[in-house]
Amino acid sequence: MDDALNPAAAHNLELVRGTTALARRGAEILSDHLWNAIERRGRALFALAGGSTPRATYTALTAHELPWPFVDFVWGDERMVDDEDPASNVRMARETLLEPLGIEGSRIHAPRTDLRPEEAALEYEKVLRALDPRSHPPRLDVVLLGMGPDGHTASLFPGGPELEAPPSRLMIDSISPFEPRERISLTLRMLIAARHVVFLVGGADKRDAVSRVLAGDPTIPATHVVPVDGTLQWVVDRDALDEESSR
Ligand code: 6PG
Repeated sequence: MDDALNPAAAHNLELVRGTTALARRGAEILSDHLWNAIERRGRALFALAGGSTPRATYTALTAHELPWPFVDFVWGDERMVDDEDPASNVRMARETLLEPLGIEGSRIHAPRTDLRPEEAALEYEKVLRALDPRSHPPRLDVVLLGMGPDGHTASLFPGGPELEAPPSRLMIDSISPFEPRERISLTLRMLIAARHVVFLVGGADKRDAVSRVLAGDPTIPATHVVPVDGTLQWVVDRDALDEESSR
């Protein structure tokens, strides 16, 4: 059956049982892609996801023997809060991944959240361009993404103007329906320019959104994250998959 008729295949969907398996498998996949990037290009540009799902994945990733000094860490999105705030994606990654691995500060490229969101997004675009000045847009090697129950990914929300960002934009400000509301996020253009995009999604509350992505529902932002010249993988735990929709 060709991929168009088999959405799970088109999304390279892998089903796992439970959150521990999701974290472990996610870490394996991310580790492979990071190794691949470092071997081919001497460096890996790794975009981290926020929220809660990645916590266990980042912890699992610290057990992987990788040439970590050759990884540059950026964020797929951030809430416009102080980086000591419990809602900060930078704080979450620092606690679960960067500090345990002893990552050098020069490899950590955190968004500025002391600016207005629109300014912070523009500032971050300079960071992204400086990390890959020869590519237009800059090409991220590995992008980890989650998805909310409403189908948002990074901080691209259903019906949000950020989904229609001008093609020149790499990072954009957005307003979340959930607190903290002010966000900045990679644009769809940056996400689909990546070499490897990995979605990790778990929990029964995501089941409807996963079904809608697999059905190609264009109102779901995650549906549009299909790399132009890269790989897409979805790792989903059983609770988040309605068996019907994966046939
Ligand atoms: C964020 C994330 C966001 C997240 C989803 C899923 O800043 O909130 O980047 O896109 O991946 O909301 O979040 P959970 O993993 O907590 O379900």
